[in-house]
Amino acid sequence: MTPILNYPVYTLDGQQLLSAGAQLDEATLQKVAAAGRDRYQFRTFLDHGSIRHDLLKYMTNRPYSVLFGDSETQRELWTMMEEVSIIAPCLDAIDYFQQQDFYTYRHILMVFAMTTLLTRDLIPDCRDWIRESFASPTHDIGKTCVPLEVLRKTTPLTRRERLRLKHHPLAGYVLLCHYLGDHNHFAARVARDHHERKNGSGYPRGILDTDPMVEIITVCDIYDALVSPRPYRPQSYDNRSAIEEITRLAECGEIGWYVVKALVAHNRQVAYDPNEIWVTDEKRGTPPAVNAYGILLDD
Ligand SMILES: [Fe+2]
Ligand SMILES: [Fe+2]
Repeated sequence: MTPILNYPVYTLDGQQLLSAGAQLDEATLQKVAAAGRDRYQFRTFLDHGSIRHDLLKYMTNRPYSVLFGDSETQRELWTMMEEVSIIAPCLDAIDYFQQQDFYTYRHILMVFAMTTLLTRDLIPDCRDWIRESFASPTHDIGKTCVPLEVLRKTTPLTRRERLRLKHHPLAGYVLLCHYLGDHNHFAARVARDHHERKNGSGYPRGILDTDPMVEIITVCDIYDALVSPRPYRPQSYDNRSAIEEITRLAECGEIGWYVVKALVAHNRQVAYDPNEIWVTDEKRGTPPAVNAYGILLDD
């Protein structure tokens, strides 16, 4: 089924790429990609603004300091992260989030670091993937097309606001097709698919199968959303409750066990071996009491 945009897609400098109601068929996407081809430059992600400094700060504080492990692991990760360059308009978007929606800025950084860590465990040619795909720092780029009052809202969203928020995967897909000049680029597909679930319960397309790399980014995306304070939830999940929630999603078939097991291995600070990692179905954590996520108000 061809996805249809519910809202227009604009670049940060105000250029409309597609209008509301546009069908994302092959011909349309090729046109969007052709208009952006060879227009934008790549720059080293870690060298931009205060990204390196901020990443170091977050990675060395709990709960991340446990996951990122010993100094040898950290050194290896930094070497891998140094090799990542991303397209200039995405760095502008990261500046925008840093100034306007700090939760999203921090989230982009931590999903990037965590994805690098789990990709190292799970994907055989991980260095190529991390360097060439640079998909995790751009996965939420479509949020530049969501009004800030929706992103920053601290009370439950209305149905209409929820629909606006759900625009971001397709908006990100269109933006990255354009910036990269390639409608099949992996980073564009990650932006489109990172809210899909293995049992078809996700969005925007409700597909059943996603790429293993997309699954890794999805799990990192969920973990960081749980352990971070969010506008709609002043208190974050503690690490135990977050891992239990992710385990519950794997039990429901929404996400893959192999990624969850890698996350659990890091949390226990043991080597990843899918046959050795045993995940309990016992739930003893205490999720935050105040949480507006998933509550919808009528418009
Ligand atoms: Fe997202
Ligand atoms: Fe995200």
